Amino acid sequence: MLRTHNCGTLNINNVNTEVNLSGWVQKTRDLGGMTFVDLRDRYGITQLAFNMDVNAELCTEARKLGREFVIQITGKVVERESKNKNIPTGEIEIEISTLTLLNSSKTPPFTIENETDGGDEIRMKYRYLDIRRNPIKENLMLRHQVSKATRNYLDSQGFIEVETPYLIKSTPEGARDFVVPSRMNEKQFYALPQSPQTFKQLLMVGGIDKYYQIVKCFRDEDLRADRQPEFTQIDCEMSFIEQEDILNTFEGLTRHLLKEVKGVELNEFPRMTYDDAMRLYGSDKPDIRFDMAFVEMNAECQGKDFGVFNNSEAVLAINAKGCANYTRKQLDKLVNFVKTPQVGATGLIYCKYNEDGTSKSTVDKFFDEDARNAWKEKAGCENGDLLLIMSGELDKTRKALGTLRLHLAEELGLRNPEVFAPLWVLDFPLLEWDEDTERYHAMHHPFTSPKPEDIAKLDTDPAAVRANAYDLVMNGNEIGGGSIRIHDKALQQLMFKHLGFSEAEAKEQFGFLMEAFEYGAPPHGGVAFGFDRLCAIMGGQESIRDFIAFPKNNSGRDVMIDSPSDIDEEQLKELSIALRS
Ligand code: AMO
Repeated sequence: MLRTHNCGTLNINNVNTEVNLSGWVQKTRDLGGMTFVDLRDRYGITQLAFNMDVNAELCTEARKLGREFVIQITGKVVERESKNKNIPTGEIEIEISTLTLLNSSKTPPFTIENETDGGDEIRMKYRYLDIRRNPIKENLMLRHQVSKATRNYLDSQGFIEVETPYLIKSTPEGARDFVVPSRMNEKQFYALPQSPQTFKQLLMVGGIDKYYQIVKCFRDEDLRADRQPEFTQIDCEMSFIEQEDILNTFEGLTRHLLKEVKGVELNEFPRMTYDDAMRLYGSDKPDIRFDMAFVEMNAECQGKDFGVFNNSEAVLAINAKGCANYTRKQLDKLVNFVKTPQVGATGLIYCKYNEDGTSKSTVDKFFDEDARNAWKEKAGCENGDLLLIMSGELDKTRKALGTLRLHLAEELGLRNPEVFAPLWVLDFPLLEWDEDTERYHAMHHPFTSPKPEDIAKLDTDPAAVRANAYDLVMNGNEIGGGSIRIHDKALQQLMFKHLGFSEAEAKEQFGFLMEAFEYGAPPHGGVAFGFDRLCAIMGGQESIRDFIAFPKNNSGRDVMIDSPSDIDEEQLKELSIALRS
């Protein structure tokens, strides 16, 4: 038997037990008379003790073990002299009787410990070694827990998991498709699904009234910390439901996951309209772990001699509580921050409300004590607070102030990753204007239903039409999105028309769905959670990369297997693909 126990379980209660352990050599320490080896496996680390006086030959062999050698030992559990309270096995060690080398190892290119000296690229190239480290391994374990708890919950609610195909045709999520050439159908291509959207709607027509799938999706888009070209969704769809049913079911799922995996009880999720989220936080995914909501200050700021405010569509402020004591240097840094391309603002006005009741702003020349006190009242400032004001075009000012709000919260330690603040953002606009193509696009996707009371505005004021669409947001991240779908063919055709599809284009791309809708499509709707994102947030991080076993780097490459890569002439010929040189 290669092992009777693993390297994380033995403790003081096992003293005198004879054990077999197998694992990797993390470290050897040669102290002359004694040699200690830290033996690691997935479960932990156990100290092996080799005594020169007891068995010189074995001890000499142990000294020759290199980092990451794979060994198997037999021995007896004994109490340690100097105990390590930081690890579960820290009170014992193993007195070794046999040592077998199962495999040797090259010296790893970085240290395989919690804190590593390996940079990002090298860790990606040797990902299998990185996975041996606790931080990555624990993320994968968390991911497993989340997927297990998801399946349990959805199963308990009557959902069934159905797999949908990966070789399909273009899906409507708005990113670019990854395509796969078909050998048997010359010069034709499959597209990999950006989501199983159309298939899950077809399953509703098929009567599978509660569907889910933990499923890979593929999107050829620019990568960021929270985006990978292939990622995983918890994808769901339900029939004979209304928006409220979906919100309750998936609020239930989220609450279940946080409870099961993190032991955290969440209160009822707040709900906020898209309009309010933009007005109060300048973002459709507000981080509500802290307040600092925007205050509209046009009335209090305009009409004086200060042209910057007078010429602005919007004057907006946030109250940085307790920050009146910011030094000149700290304030200059904030001003410089808002001028970086990332924020793109032209400037920042501030007003300190000092503890002694006096106030001082950067525009005292235009705004006297009374004017500053009017600001104070409007923004709910108290002595000791710092008011930060930005102005300009409404959308840009909201975006910039939203970025400053997050930046400040980070600085003030208000973005505690152990605190979970979910909310639903509701009533998204149905359409959004695209500057490049100069036409409206579906903000969610073309199957999302408009609010019935807004349908009339499709012709007169398309931008004002709201959708039955919702996002689940947690800690400032979009965790999931979904909508109630159009199940009526005529309304779907009207939508395609407004999205600029000709009848022929709509038929060519989505004819199969339109046809299915002629065979009794039930009212239906659904949602998809970004599984990698959910795991990352639950693991206290915003980057999803280390919650995926084998992720791509920022250029969409897998540097470990070196992909994408060239394919040989023969293969190209078979696929009828001619590359231009
Ligand atoms: P949506 O496009 O909003 O909706 O995607 C759902 C969720 O998937 C996650 N996500 C991503 N995660 C990692 N990398 C990416 N590149 C990436 N893109 C999206 C996000 C997002 O909220 N079919 C609809 C769902 C529906 O209507 O039911 C859809 O895919 O967390």
